Amino acid sequence: MVSQPEIAPAPSVSVVPVTSVAPVTPIAPVTPIAPVTPIAPVTPAAPIDPAGLARSLRPFGESLMLPRAAYVDPAIFSWEQKHFFDGGWSCVGFSAELANPGDQRAVPVGPGSVLLSRDDDGNLGAFANTCRHRGHELLPCGGSAQRPSIVCPYHSWTFELDGGLKTAKGFKGTPGFDDSQWGLIRLPVTEWHGLIFVDGSGKATPMEPALAELDELVAPYEPERLVIAGRHSYDAAANWKILTENYHECYHCPMIHPELCKVSPPRSGENYRPSGPWVGGWMDLREGMDTMSLDGSSLGVPLRGLDATGLRTVIYVNMFPNVLLSLHPDYVMTHRLTPLAVDRTLIECTWAFAPEALDKPGFDPGYAVDFWDITNRQDWGACESVQRGLSSQHAVPGPLSPDEDAVYQFVTQVARGYAGQPPWRQPATTQPAEAAAVS
Ligand code: FES
Ligand SMILES: [Fe+2]
Repeated sequence: MVSQPEIAPAPSVSVVPVTSVAPVTPIAPVTPIAPVTPIAPVTPAAPIDPAGLARSLRPFGESLMLPRAAYVDPAIFSWEQKHFFDGGWSCVGFSAELANPGDQRAVPVGPGSVLLSRDDDGNLGAFANTCRHRGHELLPCGGSAQRPSIVCPYHSWTFELDGGLKTAKGFKGTPGFDDSQWGLIRLPVTEWHGLIFVDGSGKATPMEPALAELDELVAPYEPERLVIAGRHSYDAAANWKILTENYHECYHCPMIHPELCKVSPPRSGENYRPSGPWVGGWMDLREGMDTMSLDGSSLGVPLRGLDATGLRTVIYVNMFPNVLLSLHPDYVMTHRLTPLAVDRTLIECTWAFAPEALDKPGFDPGYAVDFWDITNRQDWGACESVQRGLSSQHAVPGPLSPDEDAVYQFVTQVARGYAGQPPWRQPATTQPAEAAAVS
């Protein structure tokens, strides 16, 4: 996603002129970007050089990348796990993975994990994955179950699907023991277009209002209606921010993505200027290309809610901190990032198509999956090299090109977060209640 046409692409790639396509929404393009207005910290600041952060927060065109410690220092990683991934809304999976009453899953969130469960009324609950007896995990992180109650595997305390304590073996009639005091610790949870988000802190600003602009972009694609037909997991030896920064620019595309450049001009499109905790932009498809695939053809069906512009463009957005949504004319690709260490990230990638596409005889999602699997691996290779490069004690933050304005937006989100203003904790008129035990 680029917005400055004056830098020529690498000469080895043939780039056709950009087709004139109107922006997808009236949201203004990003340049010029104003300097960040200081606001009071709401969390402890990260243990990182404030002068380096100030350089990252300079106006676009004058700023530098984040201090090197942001990519290599385990202390910064620990701070991020607490204040970014467990300090506000983060994506923990898909509604379709908990479709039925009794479905349960435990997913990592920050340094710990969260238990998700669907109750008999179809409501989704999120709970700290720690038993109220002596703290055993209710499910192993990454595990799933399908049963009518939540059962701790240690001493078999049993909880209702809505988190209330059902039975505590041996406690019946014990003086002073009140079942209502020992329900699971409930956390805020929201389903948004088929994605599940949990606020691990219980203190984040409400999610839907912060995403109102993004909702306008995403709603026509109806991701909640689509069916996941392809999945890949990648274990990348790179910091999660390097992966996200890479996602936000196509400055690198002529160098490492020959297949992508054949179907989408790498310097096409614009970036949005969102007011919420997301960053993104759109790019064109070349004339004659229907979607992002190796030959530009689609073996699916166009998504029914799209207008003429939506059928000629691809939207790329990142919702802070861990989900990348890539909206195509005929499918939606989602990358969900789970940081494993300061230099290692799990990436779960899915491809979802209209149900009508899956009904086509012999439908094969490979046209989309294979294209992006090739492109993903090219990206991870570059990101892993950046990680190795930044391990040098001589690495220092560099400047951003005019084509990297969305990287600037992401970097400033992170830098403000390090200064005590994480994106989901920025000034709210009202704060939701603290996480509370189910009673
Ligand atoms: S720790 Fe769960 S029943 Fe004892
Ligand atoms: Fe890329």
